[in-house]
Amino acid sequence: MRQRLKKTVVLVGMMGAGKTAVGTALARLLGVGFLDSDEEIVRAANRTVAEIFERDGEPFFRARESEVLARLLAGPPCILSTGGGAFLSAENRKLIAAKGVSVWLRADLELLWQRVRHKNTRPLLRTADPKGTLAALLDKRAPLYAEAGVIVDARAEYSIEDMARQVIAA
Ligand code: S3P
Repeated sequence: MRQRLKKTVVLVGMMGAGKTAVGTALARLLGVGFLDSDEEIVRAANRTVAEIFERDGEPFFRARESEVLARLLAGPPCILSTGGGAFLSAENRKLIAAKGVSVWLRADLELLWQRVRHKNTRPLLRTADPKGTLAALLDKRAPLYAEAGVIVDARAEYSIEDMARQVIAA
């Protein structure tokens, strides 16, 4: 099903919501390109997200994230998966609203935790109480993610492909 997208579909939401997996499936179903903002940052820096946070700090990462978003949103429409913090800046949200359609993959704490608990790739969760940190981030961020143009619920029983089809339907 090759489609011509009018605008870039920007997947937003917490770590573990499935943005990259759903975005990849969505792009495949629609026959359009897929990009991932974290991947672009990592490629340009030649370091992992964790290494960037550690060496240069979060503000440096956020600045790169905003630059990457602006660059990708200026390009041809595609499916764009973003890091969990990308939709927090008002400037990024404004840019995304102007150039794309945002989709919040909304997932509850338990699902997010099940998906991130065994991975050590998220620098923000390298705390004494990673689940508590995740819960606090979710509480703080949910009202901002709710500003997305479209909201799709992620559930443990939905496959990645189910989720991608829900995004298309929405
Ligand atoms: C972050 C989420 C990560 C990555 C970085 C910060 C966040 O991306 O950008 O670790 O602030 O939520 P994922 O949402 O793809 O894990």
